Amino acid sequence: MSETEARILLITGAAGGIGRATVNVFAEHGWRVIGVDRQPKYEGFPEDGVYIEADISLPEQIEAIYQQVAAFTHTLDAVVHNAAVQIAKPLLNTTAEEWDLVMASNLRSVFLGAKLAHPLLKAKGGGAIVNVSSVHAVATSADIAAYAASKGGLLALTRAMAIEFAPDEIRVNAILPGAVDTPMLRAGLSRGLSGDGTVVDRLENLARKTVNGRVGQPEEIARSIYFLADHTQSSFMTGQALIVDGGATCRLSTE
Ligand code: NAI
Repeated sequence: MSETEARILLITGAAGGIGRATVNVFAEHGWRVIGVDRQPKYEGFPEDGVYIEADISLPEQIEAIYQQVAAFTHTLDAVVHNAAVQIAKPLLNTTAEEWDLVMASNLRSVFLGAKLAHPLLKAKGGGAIVNVSSVHAVATSADIAAYAASKGGLLALTRAMAIEFAPDEIRVNAILPGAVDTPMLRAGLSRGLSGDGTVVDRLENLARKTVNGRVGQPEEIARSIYFLADHTQSSFMTGQALIVDGGATCRLSTE
């Protein structure tokens, strides 16, 4: 592929809140997008892109995704591992099956996906992987242990990948969003996370915990993901964890 051709992104969780916003930001910058999600293709997905409906918690479906990618392109410029699930319940009530599902969706999928993405990024002469972790990797709350553990593991995996992929000019960074108004956040709040009252009350409660005084919008995460993926903007960054949380983790809880 020549320098003048559009750069190509593969993103998982493309149909979710942060996923759709990220697809739009890359498309606005002239990239072609391969979107992966277990939800069907949504109206408004870029016409020059490729949409693959698949479940990344299953290794054979990750293989099938990259078989479909091979029919479209032999190179990739960036991969954003964004799909994830959240199970919000006490550790003592979490079953081994629930734990395994969270790890397969949020962590093993990144390990398996990166192995298959590596040759396509290398074939382009280098590129970037952005792993969407969470502030739950560095500080967490009750009733979300499996999710927090998966996101912490993703930080360690990011560092390991950064070291092993550096010789092929592939940068690997993680982004750690704080509370962002998406279907995942609202589902978590409706299951009882973050205080009492209605979902709107709980959103306001979360907003008060940030220094900015509000929850984030998906576009604000999408632009930070773009920064980490675009080598013209973040070429000297690899193996890092970028927190984008409106300041939620910077203030002492004793304040
Ligand atoms: P979302 O629930 O709106 O989107 C997630 C998307 O991933 C959905 O479209 C879902 O269908 C897809 N997905 C989940 N499991 C899948 C699987 N096995 N195979 C294929 N697709 C699958 O959630 P949101 O908020 O957009 O989350 C995106 C990322 O941001 C996630 O990694 C999440 O953990 C992270 N995050 C979100 C925060 C928030 O406050 N919204 C805060 C911190 C991190």
